[in-house]
Amino acid sequence: MIRLASLPRPALDPGMVEIAVERAAINPSDLIPVTGAYSNRTVLPFVPGFEGVGTVSRVGADVTHLKPGDRVLPLGASGLWQTYLQRPAEWCFAVPADVSTEQASTAYVNPMTTLRLIAALKEHFGGSCGIVGRRIGVTAAGSAIGRMLLMRLSAEGAEVTAMVRSEATAARLPTSPGLQTHVTGHQPIGKDLAFDAVVDAVGGDTGGDLLRHNLSPGGVLLQYGALSGIPIAQEAISARPDVRFSFLWLRSFVHSAGREVLTRALAQCFDGLRDGAFLSDIAGTYPLSHITEALAHQDSPDRRGKVLIDPRC
Ligand SMILES: NC(=O)c1ccc[n+]([C@@H]2O[C@H](COP(=O)([O-])OP(=O)(O)OC[C@H]3O[C@@H](n4cnc5c(N)ncnc54)[C@H](OP(=O)(O)O)[C@@H]3O)[C@@H](O)[C@H]2O)c1
Repeated sequence: MIRLASLPRPALDPGMVEIAVERAAINPSDLIPVTGAYSNRTVLPFVPGFEGVGTVSRVGADVTHLKPGDRVLPLGASGLWQTYLQRPAEWCFAVPADVSTEQASTAYVNPMTTLRLIAALKEHFGGSCGIVGRRIGVTAAGSAIGRMLLMRLSAEGAEVTAMVRSEATAARLPTSPGLQTHVTGHQPIGKDLAFDAVVDAVGGDTGGDLLRHNLSPGGVLLQYGALSGIPIAQEAISARPDVRFSFLWLRSFVHSAGREVLTRALAQCFDGLRDGAFLSDIAGTYPLSHITEALAHQDSPDRRGKVLIDPRC
């Protein structure tokens, strides 16, 4: 259950900054702890929202690289769905002046996940040119990350197949030279498609079938989501000892990378906004006071793009 609450603005400890949040995104991962999943690492009550942007409103003692008025992305913890957020200064990253506040609010989670997935594919295939000419299948290709993957993988020379569940979604996919589209509907994928790699956000039977029937020996299935709500069956994983299966968590990277690496990764995310590959469609922006309507829009089958929250009203 989510409800609005008014709390006092606490004093700032040394090393902390307070951020007046201007836009926060609603991402599928925000809703997982809300449903009670991740209960081993989420202490309730908590403030959701892993992604958003704001302006530094106060700085604690010992903070040298930020000052009031700086626009920042606070990374590494939830809490963006509130008016004022406190974060350690070392977890706050400057937003370049040419990136709008709306663009910045979706600049991190999906773009950085896309970059990590592509880095994992390159690592599997032996280096930066390793994905050139590889047959790569992308499930839930109409999702924000799916679209980013299609554009980036095609631009890097992979033979990409977008897998979507409806003709309507297929019609809205970005166009790119060499990009194939396969509408899966609610039928099994079929055994006629062959891939060197699959990047999967669906899991369940979709991911399991792809793993069993559609991956060439030596290939890789990278899973990063389970939009079906069902994990890939262990039997499907065990049935293919000749391919690699792994799950990618952005969180693991973010919490182990260190500030310098994260600064470079964010610079790549901002570049992706500038060249258009990492821009997200915005389906609507809601005041935080209308969070119930915002969540209903997020859940709607007619949603086209990201739902944003404006915590100032
Ligand atoms: N591992 C990580 O660190 C990480 C990081 C970020 C995101 N994620 C995951 O990545 C996934 C995508 O996130 P996003 O923000 O890109 O999503 P999004 O933009 O909200 O898009 C979700 C879209 O996927 C499609 N979809 C939903 N359920 C589906 C199903 N069962 N089968 C096929 N398609 C389905 C729907 O499109 P249509 O209705 O048009 O078919 C839906 O609009 C989520 O599972 C999220 O949790 C993981």
